[in-house]
Formats: sequence, structure tokens, C-alpha cells
Amino acid sequence: MRRAQYNQNQEDLEENFIKMKLNLNEEINRIKSLMFEQVEDYVLDVQGNINSPNGLNIIMKTIEGEKIGHTNVIGFKHAVDLSRDFKTFLENKEHPFLEDNCVYQFGTEIDQKFRRNGYATILRNKCHDLSKENNFKYATGILRKDNTANQNLMKKMGYNIFDSSDEKDFVVLEL
Ligand SMILES: CC(C)(COP(=O)(O)OP(=O)(O)OC[C@H]1O[C@@H](n2cnc3c(N)ncnc32)[C@H](O)[C@@H]1OP(=O)(O)O)[C@@H](O)C(=O)NCCC(=O)NCCS
Repeated sequence: MRRAQYNQNQEDLEENFIKMKLNLNEEINRIKSLMFEQVEDYVLDVQGNINSPNGLNIIMKTIEGEKIGHTNVIGFKHAVDLSRDFKTFLENKEHPFLEDNCVYQFGTEIDQKFRRNGYATILRNKCHDLSKENNFKYATGILRKDNTANQNLMKKMGYNIFDSSDEKDFVVLEL
């Protein structure tokens, strides 16, 4: 009788222990999901293709659907057709940029009221990620020397000046 009671107690203990373990696991998973929960306050709409004649266009919106800004990235081959500046810079200097290793990023704009929140940085990083996924090695851009915001942004992102004209800089980032 006492043995039966002892066995029952053991079983109860084991059952309780398993329940505690399950609860603990659940709690750990809940904390983990809270820690890694995405707290993004924007959505990205990626349209097109880097290797197409019009390139890839990314539109950033708030969760409510208001437009925050946009940017574009295009492969070397079509960038030459698209941008006279791009073509001219590359005609003027020997360079390592080729169809299969280089993209051109252009037309980044963030709506006035959303500026200085890191959104342009996010958009450009997204372009870098997509370019890397497509095995491109260099991201390039052209910016006016007097565009302080864009100059600072490009510097902060690690771009280096590859060539300059009187008004503009051709910048490059190794991805
Ligand atoms: C340039 C532009 C895209 C920057 O967008 P943004 O979302 O405000 O940029 P971020 O918040 O990601 O800024 C990143 C860094 O860029 C620099 N920067 C951005 N705006 C700046 C400004 N007005 N003055 C000085 N530096 C600035 C800063 O170094 C900033 O880092 P910090 O905020 O930690 O100091 C935005 O000002 C814009 O749309 N301008 C008009 C269009 C344009 O000139 N586009 C570029 C040519 S294609």
C-alpha cells in the first residue's frame, strides 16, 4: 500500500516536473519572440529587376500606407543608357566596373517630414542587400557636391569618391 502511494507520488512529481518544464520552455520562447520581434514602422514595396532596362524601384511606406520615400538601383549595362552622367564619368577614367559586377543607385528621396529618421539609410542598405544577392560587387552613385545631406549620407554609408567633376562626385562602395 505504502509502495503504491510512493509510486503515485513519484508519478505526480514527474508529471508536475514535466509541466513546469513545458511552461518554462513556453516562457523562454515568448521572451525570445519579444526580443526578436520586428519593430519596423515601415513597409517596403520592391518593384522591377536590377538587370532590367528600368532597374529596380523600392517604395517605402508607413504601416498606414503613407509614402515615406523611394529609391532605385540598376545594373551597369542599363545605367549607361539611363544616365548621361554615369556614362560620362566612366568614359573619362579607367575603372573596374563591368556589367556583371556593378550597380548604379539613383533617385533616393525621402519626404520632407520623414527626413533624419534613418529611412534613406534603410532604403540604400536594402539596395545593397539585393545587389549582393545578385552577386554585384560595387554600388555606385553620383551626387552633387553641394548636396550636404546626400554627401553626409553617402560618407556615413562608407562610399568613397572615385572621380569628380566641377559639380558632382562619382562615388563607390565595395559591397
Ligand atoms: C538626402 C536624403 C535622401 C536623406 O534622407 P534621410 O532619410 O533624411 O537620411 P538618413 O536619416 O538616413 O540620414 C543618414 C545620415 O545622412 C546625413 N544627413 C541626412 N540628412 C542630412 C542633412 N539635412 N544635413 C546633414 N546631414 C544629413 C547624416 O549624416 C545622417 O546621419 P545622422 O542623422 O546620424 O546625422 C533626403 O534629405 C532627401 O530626400 N533629400 C532630397 C532629395 C535628394 O537630395 N536626394 C539625393 C539625390 S538622389
